[in-house]
Amino acid sequence: MSKRIDVKDLNVYYGKFLAVEDVNVTIEARSVTAFIGPSGCGKSTFLRTLNRMHEVIPGGRVEGEVLLDGDDLYDDAVDPVHVRSQIGMVFQRPNPFPTMSIRDNVLAGVKLNSKRISKSDADALVEKSLRGANLWNEVKDRLARPGSGLSGGQQQRLCIARAIAVSPEVILMDEPCSALDPISTLAIEDLINELKNDYTVAIVTHNMQQAARVSDKTAFFNIAATGKPGKLIEFGDTSDIFNRPKEKSTEDYVSGRFG
Ligand SMILES: Nc1ncnc2c1ncn2[C@@H]1O[C@H](COP(=O)(O)OP(=O)(O)OP(=O)(O)O)[C@@H](O)[C@H]1O
Ligand SMILES: [Mg+2]
Repeated sequence: MSKRIDVKDLNVYYGKFLAVEDVNVTIEARSVTAFIGPSGCGKSTFLRTLNRMHEVIPGGRVEGEVLLDGDDLYDDAVDPVHVRSQIGMVFQRPNPFPTMSIRDNVLAGVKLNSKRISKSDADALVEKSLRGANLWNEVKDRLARPGSGLSGGQQQRLCIARAIAVSPEVILMDEPCSALDPISTLAIEDLINELKNDYTVAIVTHNMQQAARVSDKTAFFNIAATGKPGKLIEFGDTSDIFNRPKEKSTEDYVSGRFG
């Protein structure tokens, strides 16, 4: 478990619109990499290219390479469904299947990927995944109840449990805490800190304190003007990006002067 991602000369398009231009970056295994930058600079677009979710959008296409431990995800021989089982994603709004039970929500991805799993294996996997998502103690007595009956923070941890149940190599998170209260946010941050023992984690966040707290590396994206492509401006150790940025625009952004 846990592989690194190398992005090489990546351009990302919606039809003719070049949304993100010429990204070169490495996301290390067993670490947390944060993607920050002003609204519209292409953070979500870029993140979706890392598990081939971008190409599901009409007109969505890429140029360049995304290598998972050296293997190009965009190689013709690669099945995008397999890519998405290796590289899971957690979204801004918790999106459990509302009528499905908590237990079945955890197993949803597993059932999609593989065919059969015995009841006892499923029970063990549900417990392991919910423990991994720091949710087990809160839900163990109501696994048959619908996922929609949980609080927002619990629903987000349920989505993380669903993501880790398939044993991915990488977990992508797009502003996973933006719909959550401060306590739930801290719970998710603690969890991210634990997840990096086993997984490669990439997270988009607008919260500078959060990026500083949870990430090892930070990548700052920016756009020159509306309609121009987003670009990766600066990438490095999180402490350097926040305390000793090399670029003026990085400094302005992390100190809250724009964005
Ligand atoms: N489905 C789409 N079709 C066409 N253009 C899109 C689509 N989604 C996003 N874009 C455009 O791509 C650019 C980057 O958008 P993206 O959502 O990646 O930005 P972002 O950095 O995630 O912003 P935010 O911080 O507001 O979430 C924007 O110009 C946006 O309008
Ligand atoms: Mg976004």
